[in-house]
Amino acid sequence: MSPRSLRFALVLAAAGTLAACGGGQGARSAPGEVPAAEVARGGTLYLRSCAACHGRTGQGIRGLGPDLRGNAFVASRPDPEVVAFLKVGRRAGDPANKTRIDMPPRGGNPGFTDADLAAITAWMRTLGPP
Ligand code: HEC
Repeated sequence: MSPRSLRFALVLAAAGTLAACGGGQGARSAPGEVPAAEVARGGTLYLRSCAACHGRTGQGIRGLGPDLRGNAFVASRPDPEVVAFLKVGRRAGDPANKTRIDMPPRGGNPGFTDADLAAITAWMRTLGPP
């Protein structure tokens, strides 16, 4: 990791910590907070679009998408931040991109609403560590 990207990572980590400590509106979903039916709906939507790159169980697919099980990026951010990320994705040319592979906006499915992305986020939180 270059000093520049290390600094960027540290800034991101600090921002994540601040957001995590903010509580209130920014709080990440606690287990049981999102209705089970909504979590299940998120899983179905995930299979429809995200699994192509991240694998059916979120295990990741080499050359396409990273492992999402126990994912630090998701774990360290409250729901609204994860949803905000999913809305824009992380293009290969983005300085924050780690793999030089595209994470498309809305996971490549423009039909996903913000509520859909929130349901998918709740489902991703059910993925334990590998
Ligand atoms: C075309 C392939 C592709 C699709 C489809 C896709 N992703 Fe991704 N995703 C990626 C890649 C590649 C990255 C890593 C980007 C990088 O290197 O920074 C990524 C990163 C992520 C991250 C951040 C992980 C981290 O550690 O930084 C999350 C969360 C994520 N994707 C969730 C999703 C969800 C949810 C969907 C469906 C709505 C989805 N992705 C659809 C390719 C994809």
